[in-house]
Amino acid sequence: MEAVIDIKVIKTEKSKLPGTSLENLPFGKVFTDHMLEVEYKDGQWQQPVIKPFGPISMLPTNATLHYGQTIFEGIKAYRTVSGEPYIFRPFDNFHRFNISAARMMMPEIPEELFIEGMRKLVEVDLDWIPNKPDHSLYIRPFMFATDEAIGVRPSSTYSFYILLSPTGPYYSKPCRIYVEEKYTRAAPGGIGFAKSGGNYASSLLAFAEAQAKGFDQVLWTDAFEHKYVQEMGTMNVFFIIGNTAITPNLEGSILEGVTRSTVITLLQEQGLKVEERPLHIDEIIAAHKAGTLKEAFGTGTAATITPIKELNYKGYEMLLDTDKWTISPEVKRRLDAIREGREADVHQWMFPVKG
Ligand code: COI
Repeated sequence: MEAVIDIKVIKTEKSKLPGTSLENLPFGKVFTDHMLEVEYKDGQWQQPVIKPFGPISMLPTNATLHYGQTIFEGIKAYRTVSGEPYIFRPFDNFHRFNISAARMMMPEIPEELFIEGMRKLVEVDLDWIPNKPDHSLYIRPFMFATDEAIGVRPSSTYSFYILLSPTGPYYSKPCRIYVEEKYTRAAPGGIGFAKSGGNYASSLLAFAEAQAKGFDQVLWTDAFEHKYVQEMGTMNVFFIIGNTAITPNLEGSILEGVTRSTVITLLQEQGLKVEERPLHIDEIIAAHKAGTLKEAFGTGTAATITPIKELNYKGYEMLLDTDKWTISPEVKRRLDAIREGREADVHQWMFPVKG
């Protein structure tokens, strides 16, 4: 892509990097020196600026604070073994961002602004990409309404930002999952497919109650019967039953994960049949009882591939011996190999940071 947008760059006078350890990083707590900021007004995106990371000033009447017109993405940048920096599948996140924008009545972002803005920002903060297995530079684009008025209507002005956060794994060990039946994450016609803050806010109570019972996450079920599994709080979900990988089909209430799509491709390349279809909890229980439930795992940008070691449905415990698994560890091994440049990137998932 030929870069023609004019991005103003104001560099920090003092980098925080010398005082920051890039080892054992928690998710989402450390941020780099710079951020990208662009305003939308008068029906147009204004000049993007890369500037020192810092506070955003707003009035208490800011529309987002009241009605939550806000969307975001999660993307990762890596270094290959030869040291070259790449961003993983940024165009897929760009497309999803605009799908979220349309659903939330927000303006679309031009491809060049999203992709070149991100590439340039990563280039400015290149030294922040961690060089350690399972670590990466997490990229967080987000947009929110900025009208200063509390009438309920779409804002006419917006801000778009990109932040960078060097990070380690979101889950450092296999998860215990609680199958949620009381609360609902999303219903058909709602915003489940959009990456909007409200989806996450409404998940927090169910998550807190599951955590209080000793679980790491919830597995959401459908809004009508609470029987068909959907996705987890921060990840899509896959089950390997016999020789088939099954993941819930995207029917409007499920987020179309970029890692989900990557994993489907890699599983198929490993010779597995992959089915995207409604998956009833009884089918999972029956497979567990029959010994054909071989593996279960979550996929997400932040979470990458996270094994599920326990699934709890109404007190019925399905325990899984993650040590014996071969299929999802092989997917993870290949994904890491592609990201680290040790396996050919035949799908052209890796987007170079250096133009
Ligand atoms: C991601 O995987 O990038 C996510 O956005 C999930 C979560 C951290 C909100």
